[in-house]
Formats: sequence, structure tokens, C-alpha cells
Amino acid sequence: NRTCKIGPSILNADLSNLASECQRMMDSGSDYLHLDVMDGQFVPNLTFGHPVVKCLRPKLPSVFFDMHMMVAAPEQWIGEMADAGADQYTFHIETTDDPARTIRKIKEAGMKAGIGIKPKTPVHVLVPFIDYVDMVLIMTVEPGFGGQKFMADMMPKVQFLREHFPDIDIEVDGGVGPSTIQECAEAGANMFVSGSAVLNSDNPRVTIQALRNIVNE
Ligand code: DX5
Ligand code: ZN
Repeated sequence: NRTCKIGPSILNADLSNLASECQRMMDSGSDYLHLDVMDGQFVPNLTFGHPVVKCLRPKLPSVFFDMHMMVAAPEQWIGEMADAGADQYTFHIETTDDPARTIRKIKEAGMKAGIGIKPKTPVHVLVPFIDYVDMVLIMTVEPGFGGQKFMADMMPKVQFLREHFPDIDIEVDGGVGPSTIQECAEAGANMFVSGSAVLNSDNPRVTIQALRNIVNE
């Protein structure tokens, strides 16, 4: 009963035209948008924060914003992101000493909660929290940059989660495109972030449809 969803990451888009790039992705058949927030501490890169989300929200009133919070202090931005109009707040378990509290605060702020792990973090650390979150994120690259090579050795994490938690939404992020999405789907992922593969393609609509077809095969 799980639905498969494709959510472009706009990290490699023309960020000076963010609203129109987001609209272009939605017009091309995306199910949601994956927005990568980086603070230069948790990852060695900087992107944008809640002020940008606040400007984006009225231009894309009904689009689901999945905020991928690659920040060292995730609890610091929960209120601001909720006010800005974020729908889901996905934090990294590596950044908090009390994930249950972080999840509770996200939900109290009215957002869905996602919890993610970097490639070097073992999957079992997620287990105690899965019943309390809406989505689990398995990174398939080291977070920080778009356009990196997909790490197929993360698939056992996805398989483990799917086996033990048949109903949870599992998102994969990093290097996901036409040549790698099938193994993600077979492992049990049902939410697919795709950045450069969609953004850099000549026709994002065709690419997104191709991704969908591979998943539904
Ligand atoms: C990486 C980000 C990803 C990335 C995906 O730190 O979390 O969302 O932008 O881009 P691709 O699909 O190009 O790996
Ligand atoms: Zn991401």
C-alpha cells in the first residue's frame, strides 16, 4: 500500500531562479520537493535556510516541502521552518543527543518528522525512533554536495528497514537516477530524491517519467 514518490533536489538548480526551478520540477511530474539546508558545520557546504523557504511557500502554495536539514543544531530551526511553511522536517540522528525530543518538537510545531543517517552511521541506531517518525532517510552519498556517485553498499540498510518496518516511508538521497533507482526500489525504498539526474537532463519530464516507470516495473 506504499506509494512511490519522486522528489527532486534543487541543489543543482539555478538558485537565482529558485521559484521557477521548483515550479519547473512540479510541472515535470514531481510528487514533492526535497530542499537541502546546509549550515557549513554538519556538512562542508552552505545553501539556504528558512527565509528562502518563506519566500518560496506563497509561490508554490500546495507543494510538499521535505526539508533535509543538514545542520549541526536541528532543534534551533524547527519553529522558523514551521512558520516558513515547511511540511516535513528531516534531521540527522548524528546531530542530536535526544532524537525523541527532536521528533516531539517537530510534531508539536505541526510538521511531519523525518530522521536520517549518513553513510557511516549504522542503521540499527534508527530502530528505537521509527515508530515515532513519518519517514526514514538513508543517505546514499556523503551529504554536502549534489552530483556524487551512488553508494550501492547502502542498500542493505534499506532492506533491513523494509523487512522490519513494512509500512514506513523510506527515502533514498544521493546519486539516484535512471541507472540506480531500480536497486533502491528493489531494496524497499519508496521515496526517491533525484537531483542532478533530473536537473541536468534535457527533459526533466521524460526523466521523471522514466524513473517512475522503472520503480513501477
Ligand atoms: C546531498 C543532498 C542531496 C543531493 C542529491 O548532500 O542531500 O539531496 O542534492 O543530489 P544528486 O541526486 O545529484 O546526488
Ligand atoms: Zn538531500
